[in-house]
Order: sequence, then C-alpha cells, then structure tokens
Amino acid sequence: MTSAQIRPGLFITVEGVEGVGKTTNMAFIREWLERAGVELVCTREPGGTPLAEELRALLLANRAEPVDPCAELLMIFAARAQHLSQVIEPALARGAWVLCDRFTDATFAYQGGGRKLPAAVIETLESLVQGGRQPDRTFYLDLDVETGLARARKRGDADRFEREAREFFEAVRQAYWQRVQANPARFTVIDAGVSLVEVQAAIAAGLEDLFAQIKGEGQ
Ligand code: TMP
Repeated sequence: MTSAQIRPGLFITVEGVEGVGKTTNMAFIREWLERAGVELVCTREPGGTPLAEELRALLLANRAEPVDPCAELLMIFAARAQHLSQVIEPALARGAWVLCDRFTDATFAYQGGGRKLPAAVIETLESLVQGGRQPDRTFYLDLDVETGLARARKRGDADRFEREAREFFEAVRQAYWQRVQANPARFTVIDAGVSLVEVQAAIAAGLEDLFAQIKGEGQ
C-alpha cells in the first residue's frame, strides 16, 4: 500500500471516575484490538511522552501549596499538546490506532465539573491545542462514586486528585454524563457496577459495533 492509500487510524479513549476499573479494561480492549489485527499505540493522559509524564508527576503530587485550578488546567493542556504532537498525531497519520487512558473529556469532568472552571475556557484551550482532533470513540465506564472511591482507596497512597472529597467526584461524574449527552454518537457507556465478565461483554459489543461502523463507511 502506498502512503497515499493509508487510511488514518482511529482514536479511542477510555474515561471514568477513580476506581471504575480502567486499567483492567484498557488491557482487555488492547488485547481485543490486537487480536483483530490492529496496529495499536497504547498511551495515557496526562502523560504519554517523557515531558508529559514529568508534568503528570507534578500534577498528581501531594503538596502543601494549593494548586490554582487555572495553573492545573494549563499544565494538563501543556502535557496534551506535547502528547498530541509527539505520539497521537504521528501514530494516527501512519495508520495506527491510538488507545488512550483519558483525554479531554476528563478535563471537562475534573477541571470543569470538579474545579468549576467554565466550559468556555476549556473549549478555548481545546481548540488551541487540538484543532479539530477528537476521539472517534470513547468508552465511558460508569460507577457510583462511593463504590469507585472505596476501590481506588484500597490501592494505598492516594494522589492529589484521589484525596478530593466525595462531592468533587459527584460533580466529575455529573460532568461526564453531560459530555455523554452532548456527544451520544461518540460515547459507548458501560455500566461498571456489574461483574467483570458482563463489563467486558459490553465493551466487546461496543468494539464490534465500531468495526461494523467502519466497514459500513468503507463500502
Ligand atoms: P488516572 O488516575 O486515570 O491515571 O488519572 C490521573 C488523574 O488525573 C485522575 O485523577 C484524573 C486527573 N485528570 C484531570 O484532572 N484532568 C485531565 O484532563 C486528565 C487527563 C486527568
């Protein structure tokens, strides 16, 4: 195949509040796509490049100094700009698929819902950093906050976000639902409160649906 014939890859993201089982289900999606023969780049936000991972460590570290919500937002988009230009865009351009643990929906949820920054401010940075780039499909794992936090806190040392109060995560979850409602075609909502077998069957059905959609578009 010549480079002119290469079809750009798809950009898939996974979202959800703490403790929804993102890590386990990211691994499941990865294996499923690799079995289907997709060339896949797995990555995460904030992070995904050495510089962006340094910014991640700064963002997650517990510190005595309060972190200004706007400073937090700018660091997240700084990491995202680096990640997009170094990893995501080059991979998609060569026809690989990108599977990313969180992306800008998390910013609308955490910095918008949680920190109460106006959506218009986030949209301005989104447009500056991403241009028109949006995920092609987003798996949103939904779970009640109490169950999620109990699971996340069992893992030990809580980072700066995990130490937030329950109300913060209720606002995060509500903001995720607003994103789902505003972009119903992009989101596949997965109930993460059922057994792992059921969660993964729902994810597999979402992936089948995505493949059927691509096949339909290719005809
Ligand atoms: P993780 O726990 O999924 O690895 O994500 C790290 C934390 O970063 C998580 O608590 C959510 C937070 N976060 C934001 O606040 N805004 C963002 O845009 C992203 C990508 C993550």
